[in-house]
Amino acid sequence: MKIVTSRADLKAARDQAEGRVGVVMTMGALHEGHATLLREARKNADFLVATIFVNPLQFGPNEDFQRYPRTLEADLGICRAEGVDLVFAPTPEVMYPEGEPSVRIDPGPLGTELEGAVRPGHFAGVLTVVSKLLHLTGAGVAFFGEKDYQQLTLIKAMVKALDLDVEIVGVPTVREPDGLAMSSRNRYLSADERTLALALNRALRAGAQAAHSGADVLAAAHRELGLVQADYLELRAPDLGPAPESGEARLLVAARVGTTRLIDNTHVYLGSDR
Ligand code: PAF
Repeated sequence: MKIVTSRADLKAARDQAEGRVGVVMTMGALHEGHATLLREARKNADFLVATIFVNPLQFGPNEDFQRYPRTLEADLGICRAEGVDLVFAPTPEVMYPEGEPSVRIDPGPLGTELEGAVRPGHFAGVLTVVSKLLHLTGAGVAFFGEKDYQQLTLIKAMVKALDLDVEIVGVPTVREPDGLAMSSRNRYLSADERTLALALNRALRAGAQAAHSGADVLAAAHRELGLVQADYLELRAPDLGPAPESGEARLLVAARVGTTRLIDNTHVYLGSDR
Protein backbone atom coordinates (compact mmCIF):
# COMPACT_ATOMS: atom_id res chain seq x y z
CA MET A 1 0.00 0.00 0.00
CA LYS A 2 1.35 3.40 -1.01
CA ILE A 3 0.72 6.47 1.15
CA VAL A 4 0.92 9.92 -0.46
CA THR A 5 0.27 13.40 0.84
CA SER A 6 1.01 15.64 -2.16
CA ARG A 7 -0.91 16.21 -5.37
CA ALA A 8 2.15 15.32 -7.47
CA ASP A 9 2.63 11.96 -5.73
CA LEU A 10 -1.08 11.23 -5.99
CA LYS A 11 -1.01 11.92 -9.73
CA ALA A 12 2.11 9.79 -10.24
CA ALA A 13 0.57 6.83 -8.37
CA ARG A 14 -2.78 7.21 -10.09
CA ASP A 15 -1.18 7.44 -13.55
CA GLN A 16 0.26 3.97 -12.97
CA ALA A 17 -3.09 2.51 -11.92
CA GLU A 18 -4.67 0.09 -14.34
CA GLY A 19 -8.39 -0.50 -14.76
CA ARG A 20 -11.22 1.04 -12.79
CA VAL A 21 -10.25 3.33 -9.92
CA GLY A 22 -12.51 3.15 -6.87
CA VAL A 23 -12.42 5.66 -4.03
CA VAL A 24 -13.59 5.65 -0.42
CA MET A 25 -13.40 9.16 1.02
CA THR A 26 -13.05 9.46 4.78
CA MET A 27 -12.15 11.92 7.50
CA GLY A 28 -10.16 9.21 9.26
CA ALA A 29 -11.00 7.77 12.71
CA LEU A 30 -11.90 4.67 10.75
CA HIS A 31 -14.23 2.03 12.19
CA GLU A 32 -16.05 -1.07 10.95
CA GLY A 33 -18.41 1.12 8.88
CA HIS A 34 -15.45 2.42 6.88
CA ALA A 35 -13.95 -1.08 6.68
CA THR A 36 -17.23 -2.26 5.12
CA LEU A 37 -17.07 0.56 2.57
CA LEU A 38 -13.49 -0.42 1.73
CA ARG A 39 -14.46 -4.09 1.39
CA GLU A 40 -17.35 -3.24 -0.92
CA ALA A 41 -15.07 -0.96 -2.95
CA ARG A 42 -12.34 -3.62 -3.13
CA LYS A 43 -14.80 -6.00 -4.81
CA ASN A 44 -15.77 -3.40 -7.40
CA ALA A 45 -12.54 -1.63 -8.32
CA ASP A 46 -9.23 -2.67 -9.88
CA PHE A 47 -7.31 0.04 -8.03
CA LEU A 48 -8.60 1.18 -4.63
CA VAL A 49 -7.86 4.64 -3.24
CA ALA A 50 -8.79 5.73 0.29
CA THR A 51 -8.63 9.41 1.18
CA ILE A 52 -8.14 10.61 4.75
CA PHE A 53 -8.80 14.31 5.21
CA VAL A 54 -10.62 16.22 7.94
CA ASN A 55 -12.19 18.84 5.71
CA PRO A 56 -12.34 22.23 7.49
CA LEU A 57 -14.84 23.53 4.93
CA GLN A 58 -17.65 21.33 6.22
CA PHE A 59 -17.37 22.32 9.90
CA GLY A 60 -19.18 25.35 11.30
CA PRO A 61 -17.40 27.79 13.66
CA ASN A 62 -18.86 26.09 16.77
CA GLU A 63 -18.42 22.53 15.59
CA ASP A 64 -15.83 19.88 16.43
CA PHE A 65 -13.14 20.47 13.74
CA GLN A 66 -10.34 20.87 16.31
CA ARG A 67 -11.34 17.95 18.48
CA TYR A 68 -12.34 15.64 15.59
CA PRO A 69 -10.42 12.38 16.26
CA ARG A 70 -7.20 12.01 14.25
CA THR A 71 -5.89 8.44 14.33
CA LEU A 72 -3.73 8.15 11.21
CA GLU A 73 -1.60 5.15 12.23
CA ALA A 74 -4.64 3.03 13.16
CA ASP A 75 -6.44 4.21 10.00
CA LEU A 76 -3.53 3.09 7.83
CA GLY A 77 -3.64 -0.33 9.53
CA ILE A 78 -7.32 -0.71 8.57
CA CYS A 79 -6.64 0.43 5.00
CA ARG A 80 -3.81 -2.09 4.71
CA ALA A 81 -5.97 -4.91 6.09
CA GLU A 82 -8.74 -4.10 3.59
CA GLY A 83 -6.42 -4.21 0.58
CA VAL A 84 -6.26 -0.49 -0.24
CA ASP A 85 -3.72 0.25 -2.99
CA LEU A 86 -3.22 3.95 -2.32
CA VAL A 87 -3.96 6.29 0.60
CA PHE A 88 -4.14 10.02 -0.05
CA ALA A 89 -3.80 11.91 3.25
CA PRO A 90 -3.30 15.58 2.40
CA THR A 91 -3.07 18.56 4.74
CA PRO A 92 -5.52 21.47 4.39
CA GLU A 93 -2.71 23.42 2.66
CA VAL A 94 -2.43 20.73 -0.01
CA MET A 95 -6.18 20.61 -0.55
CA TYR A 96 -6.71 24.36 -0.37
CA PRO A 97 -3.40 25.98 -1.43
CA GLU A 98 -5.09 29.39 -1.78
CA GLY A 99 -6.78 29.11 1.60
CA GLU A 100 -10.44 28.22 2.02
CA PRO A 101 -12.07 28.74 -1.38
CA SER A 102 -14.81 31.31 -1.85
CA VAL A 103 -16.04 29.31 -4.85
CA ARG A 104 -17.97 26.28 -3.60
CA ILE A 105 -20.53 23.85 -4.97
CA ASP A 106 -24.07 24.98 -4.16
CA PRO A 107 -26.11 22.02 -2.91
CA GLY A 108 -29.40 23.77 -3.80
CA PRO A 109 -32.49 23.90 -1.55
CA LEU A 110 -31.94 20.45 0.00
CA GLY A 111 -28.66 21.78 1.35
CA THR A 112 -30.56 24.04 3.76
CA GLU A 113 -32.93 21.36 5.07
CA LEU A 114 -32.51 18.64 7.73
CA GLU A 115 -28.74 18.62 8.52
CA GLY A 116 -28.32 21.77 6.45
CA ALA A 117 -30.80 23.68 8.64
CA VAL A 118 -28.70 22.96 11.72
CA ARG A 119 -25.31 23.16 9.97
CA PRO A 120 -25.36 26.10 7.52
CA GLY A 121 -22.73 25.73 4.77
CA HIS A 122 -22.00 22.11 5.70
CA PHE A 123 -23.09 20.56 2.41
CA ALA A 124 -21.37 23.19 0.26
CA GLY A 125 -18.19 22.18 2.11
CA VAL A 126 -18.88 18.48 1.59
CA LEU A 127 -19.73 18.75 -2.12
CA THR A 128 -16.72 20.96 -2.77
CA VAL A 129 -14.23 18.53 -1.21
CA VAL A 130 -15.94 15.48 -2.73
CA SER A 131 -15.77 16.94 -6.23
CA LYS A 132 -12.11 17.95 -5.73
CA LEU A 133 -11.24 14.45 -4.49
CA LEU A 134 -13.12 12.83 -7.39
CA HIS A 135 -11.06 14.89 -9.82
CA LEU A 136 -7.75 14.40 -8.04
CA THR A 137 -8.15 10.63 -7.67
CA GLY A 138 -9.68 10.12 -11.13
CA ALA A 139 -12.13 7.64 -9.62
CA GLY A 140 -14.68 5.88 -11.81
CA VAL A 141 -16.66 4.68 -8.81
CA ALA A 142 -17.03 6.11 -5.29
CA PHE A 143 -18.59 4.54 -2.19
CA PHE A 144 -20.45 6.40 0.57
CA GLY A 145 -22.30 5.16 3.64
CA GLU A 146 -26.08 5.44 3.91
CA LYS A 147 -25.69 6.67 7.48
CA ASP A 148 -25.05 10.11 5.99
CA TYR A 149 -28.11 9.69 3.81
CA GLN A 150 -28.54 13.38 2.96
CA GLN A 151 -24.86 13.60 2.03
CA LEU A 152 -25.22 10.55 -0.23
CA THR A 153 -28.37 12.01 -1.82
CA LEU A 154 -26.68 15.35 -2.50
CA ILE A 155 -23.53 13.71 -3.91
CA LYS A 156 -25.71 11.71 -6.34
CA ALA A 157 -27.55 14.92 -7.27
CA MET A 158 -24.26 16.77 -7.83
CA VAL A 159 -22.88 14.01 -10.06
CA LYS A 160 -26.06 14.11 -12.14
CA ALA A 161 -26.31 17.90 -12.32
CA LEU A 162 -22.65 18.40 -13.25
CA ASP A 163 -22.39 15.36 -15.60
CA LEU A 164 -19.51 13.93 -13.59
CA ASP A 165 -18.31 10.65 -15.05
CA VAL A 166 -18.40 8.60 -11.87
CA GLU A 167 -20.70 5.97 -10.37
CA ILE A 168 -21.85 6.65 -6.80
CA VAL A 169 -22.61 3.57 -4.70
CA GLY A 170 -24.45 3.78 -1.37
CA VAL A 171 -23.54 1.18 1.26
CA PRO A 172 -25.97 0.24 4.09
CA THR A 173 -25.23 1.52 7.59
CA VAL A 174 -23.13 -0.71 9.83
CA ARG A 175 -24.38 -0.94 13.42
CA GLU A 176 -23.01 -1.97 16.78
CA PRO A 177 -24.64 -5.18 18.11
CA ASP A 178 -27.05 -3.00 20.17
CA GLY A 179 -28.18 -1.06 17.08
CA LEU A 180 -26.16 2.16 17.45
CA ALA A 181 -25.06 3.31 13.99
CA MET A 182 -21.27 3.29 13.76
CA SER A 183 -19.79 6.78 13.71
CA SER A 184 -16.41 8.31 14.39
CA ARG A 185 -18.22 10.61 16.84
CA ASN A 186 -19.50 7.71 19.02
CA ARG A 187 -16.16 7.82 20.86
CA TYR A 188 -17.19 11.17 22.38
CA LEU A 189 -20.10 9.50 24.24
CA SER A 190 -19.87 8.68 27.96
CA ALA A 191 -21.32 5.33 29.06
CA ASP A 192 -24.62 7.00 30.11
CA GLU A 193 -24.82 9.02 26.90
CA ARG A 194 -24.19 5.91 24.85
CA THR A 195 -27.18 4.22 26.51
CA LEU A 196 -29.32 7.30 25.78
CA ALA A 197 -28.09 7.34 22.18
CA LEU A 198 -29.70 3.93 21.56
CA ALA A 199 -33.06 5.76 21.51
CA LEU A 200 -32.28 6.96 17.97
CA ASN A 201 -32.17 3.47 16.50
CA ARG A 202 -35.11 2.34 18.65
CA ALA A 203 -37.14 5.25 17.29
CA LEU A 204 -36.29 4.37 13.70
CA ARG A 205 -37.17 0.72 14.20
CA ALA A 206 -40.47 1.58 15.92
CA GLY A 207 -41.26 3.99 13.06
CA ALA A 208 -40.46 1.42 10.38
CA GLN A 209 -42.68 -1.15 12.10
CA ALA A 210 -45.64 1.21 12.41
CA ALA A 211 -45.59 2.04 8.75
CA HIS A 212 -49.35 2.18 8.02
CA SER A 213 -49.27 5.94 7.53
CA GLY A 214 -46.74 8.74 7.86
CA ALA A 215 -48.48 9.97 11.03
CA ASP A 216 -48.23 6.50 12.63
CA VAL A 217 -44.55 6.30 11.76
CA LEU A 218 -43.73 9.65 13.33
CA ALA A 219 -45.86 9.04 16.44
CA ALA A 220 -44.23 5.64 17.09
CA ALA A 221 -40.76 7.03 16.52
CA HIS A 222 -41.35 10.07 18.77
CA ARG A 223 -42.51 7.80 21.62
CA GLU A 224 -39.23 5.89 21.54
CA LEU A 225 -37.08 9.00 21.56
CA GLY A 226 -38.16 9.57 25.16
CA LEU A 227 -35.81 12.04 26.84
CA VAL A 228 -33.67 12.52 23.77
CA GLN A 229 -34.39 15.90 22.19
CA ALA A 230 -34.33 15.56 18.39
CA ASP A 231 -33.10 18.34 16.12
CA TYR A 232 -35.41 16.72 13.61
CA LEU A 233 -37.34 13.53 13.11
CA GLU A 234 -38.70 13.56 9.59
CA LEU A 235 -40.24 11.29 7.05
CA ARG A 236 -39.24 12.01 3.45
CA ALA A 237 -39.30 10.45 0.00
CA PRO A 238 -36.21 8.34 -0.86
CA ASP A 239 -34.76 11.36 -2.74
CA LEU A 240 -35.55 13.49 0.36
CA GLY A 241 -38.41 15.31 -1.37
CA PRO A 242 -41.78 15.46 0.48
CA ALA A 243 -42.93 12.15 2.01
CA PRO A 244 -45.27 10.11 -0.18
CA GLU A 245 -48.69 8.87 1.04
CA SER A 246 -47.59 5.29 0.45
CA GLY A 247 -44.66 3.26 -0.79
CA GLU A 248 -40.92 3.76 -0.25
CA ALA A 249 -39.87 6.47 2.20
CA ARG A 250 -36.96 7.43 4.46
CA LEU A 251 -37.19 8.23 8.16
CA LEU A 252 -34.35 10.47 9.39
CA VAL A 253 -33.39 11.58 12.86
CA ALA A 254 -30.73 13.81 14.39
CA ALA A 255 -30.22 14.57 18.07
CA ARG A 256 -27.65 15.98 20.40
CA VAL A 257 -26.69 13.55 23.16
CA GLY A 258 -24.56 15.43 25.67
CA THR A 259 -22.33 17.51 23.43
CA THR A 260 -22.33 14.95 20.62
CA ARG A 261 -24.54 15.28 17.58
CA LEU A 262 -25.73 11.96 16.17
CA ILE A 263 -27.68 11.17 13.01
CA ASP A 264 -29.36 8.03 11.75
CA ASN A 265 -31.98 6.98 9.20
CA THR A 266 -33.84 3.99 7.89
CA HIS A 267 -35.87 2.80 4.96
CA VAL A 268 -39.64 2.72 5.60
CA TYR A 269 -42.40 1.22 3.49
CA LEU A 270 -45.61 3.21 3.99
CA GLY A 271 -48.98 1.53 3.68
CA SER A 272 -47.94 -1.91 4.87
CA ASP A 273 -49.81 -3.64 7.69
CA ARG A 274 -46.70 -4.98 9.36
O1 PAF B 1 -18.60 11.39 5.21
C1 PAF B 1 -17.48 11.91 5.43
O2 PAF B 1 -16.65 11.36 6.13
C2 PAF B 1 -17.15 13.26 4.80
O3 PAF B 1 -18.26 14.08 4.75
C3 PAF B 1 -16.50 13.12 3.41
C4 PAF B 1 -17.44 12.48 2.40
C5 PAF B 1 -15.23 12.29 3.52
C6 PAF B 1 -16.13 14.51 2.87
O4 PAF B 1 -15.25 15.16 3.72
